[in-house]
Amino acid sequence: MKVQLLNKILEVKEQIKDWKKENYTIGLVPTMGALHAGHASLIKKAKEISDKVVVSVFVNPIQFGPSEDFNKYPRKIDSDVEICESLGVDVVFNPAAEEMYGKNKNLSNNDLTFVCPPYNYVDCLCGKARPGHFDGVATVVLKLFNIVRPDYAFFGQKDAQQLFILKNMVKDLNLDITIVPCPIVREEDGLALSSRNVYLSMEERKNALSISKALREIKKLYNDGIIDVKILFDTAVSVLDKHLELDYIEFRDFETFQPLKEVRENTLVAIAAKSGTTRLIDNEIL
Ligand code: PAJ
Repeated sequence: MKVQLLNKILEVKEQIKDWKKENYTIGLVPTMGALHAGHASLIKKAKEISDKVVVSVFVNPIQFGPSEDFNKYPRKIDSDVEICESLGVDVVFNPAAEEMYGKNKNLSNNDLTFVCPPYNYVDCLCGKARPGHFDGVATVVLKLFNIVRPDYAFFGQKDAQQLFILKNMVKDLNLDITIVPCPIVREEDGLALSSRNVYLSMEERKNALSISKALREIKKLYNDGIIDVKILFDTAVSVLDKHLELDYIEFRDFETFQPLKEVRENTLVAIAAKSGTTRLIDNEIL
């Protein structure tokens, strides 16, 4: 069957109603498009465990700060639909911002109901440099959940803080949805795939490679028995290319999100840095 490209909420709801009548399980893969092999891995996992798969493609304005790349974020709906078609996706949901948030809304919390994840999870790592970002993410994802009513929703470990926050949103708000985490997909040389990698010049890409290298080095030291965060932090700093503008290197318990002085099993090691003007993130779970 051909993939259906829908941009109206009502059309999606109609389709979902029909599928629910047949007792089909539904998998949702939320994306902002410019699909790459990382997204494809989520879609493949969704196909494996759900009867019907919906991929949303929506560059969500309320998760971008005023000086961020909302306007220049890559938009490639035609090739996204082709990729979805080749992977056997049932519906691509590609709404306009007005469809999602209403015509005359000012997209701020003066005029729009937001989901606000806990302060302890948002006032750190990417949330520090991007105030309001995770409120915007949680809000759009809850809206997508309410529109698509999925049994399963698929998120990449690449955005570890986002995954952590959404897992907690589902638990805290008693949503009847299973979040399925999916491993990070990388280029052969280790660079984590990201829609933003298209912004990188050759030189910036080369410098960016040191992020995954630093994570591998930390993992190696941890496997050799080194658990002192200060030593691991300093090692990462020495591996990171000096042209990068480092935002953070963080060591957090991936169950509680507490910062750690000594790493242990299930520690999230996360790095964010700018290569040129492009902000990149990557992580490892120890
Ligand atoms: P986007 O950046 O398009 O990512 C969509 C999903 O793909 C996320 O769950 C992300 O973690 C996953 N992903 C991206 N790169 C990946 C990689 N290299 N390996 C594995 N998974 C990868 O994340 C968002 O969009 C938005 O914030 C969204 C959740 C759609 C809300 O607007």
